[in-house]
Amino acid sequence: MRIQEGITKRSLEILKANTHGLILDIGMGCGFASIYLKLNGFRSVGIDLNRLFLNYYDLADVNPTQADMRYIGMRPESVDYILSISAVQWLLAEEEPLKREKELTLFAEFCASVLKPQGKLLIQFYPKSDVMMDELGHIFNLTGHFKGNFIIDNAYSPKKRRIFLYLEKK
Ligand SMILES: C[S@@+](CC[C@H](N)C(=O)[O-])C[C@H]1O[C@@H](n2cnc3c(N)ncnc32)[C@H](O)[C@@H]1O
Repeated sequence: MRIQEGITKRSLEILKANTHGLILDIGMGCGFASIYLKLNGFRSVGIDLNRLFLNYYDLADVNPTQADMRYIGMRPESVDYILSISAVQWLLAEEEPLKREKELTLFAEFCASVLKPQGKLLIQFYPKSDVMMDELGHIFNLTGHFKGNFIIDNAYSPKKRRIFLYLEKK
């Protein structure tokens, strides 16, 4: 929980998020980031594939919804920020390359659609390799809707290394 809170804090710092904007927490799990957001005055809604995680704590206050980040529909241009912590590596784990590419593309297109213009996205994830890391960046780049790059904290410490994909919608 402390680690997830630390990552959330750092993510908000990178996003320079203000408390007026709405944050979509993708892959919210049992809500460590969403609860931190709520306690610090941010507005958020969260989704997760797994209902069991969503029911682990009483999360009603942080607007949890069961949904799959690959196949979700939400009103276009309805959120100011997307935050996803330690979840997107699940999409990268798909072993069949064409299927992986298709699912990552669906996810990237969804992010492009749901973010308001100039909205910001931050994905913290654990790729298995640099190739996987680049694959995610490449897919988002192909949408043509984003500018930004990777931010790597503690690059040379295997334990403390944190990889963030930080993008702004054009
Ligand atoms: C390691 S947990 C991270 C949870 C939370 N973000 C945190 O920092 O505590 C990863 C979460 O991603 C969710 N997840 C995996 N694939 C997903 C998908 N396709 N759509 C939505 N959530 C997904 C899992 O159910 C799990 O709750």
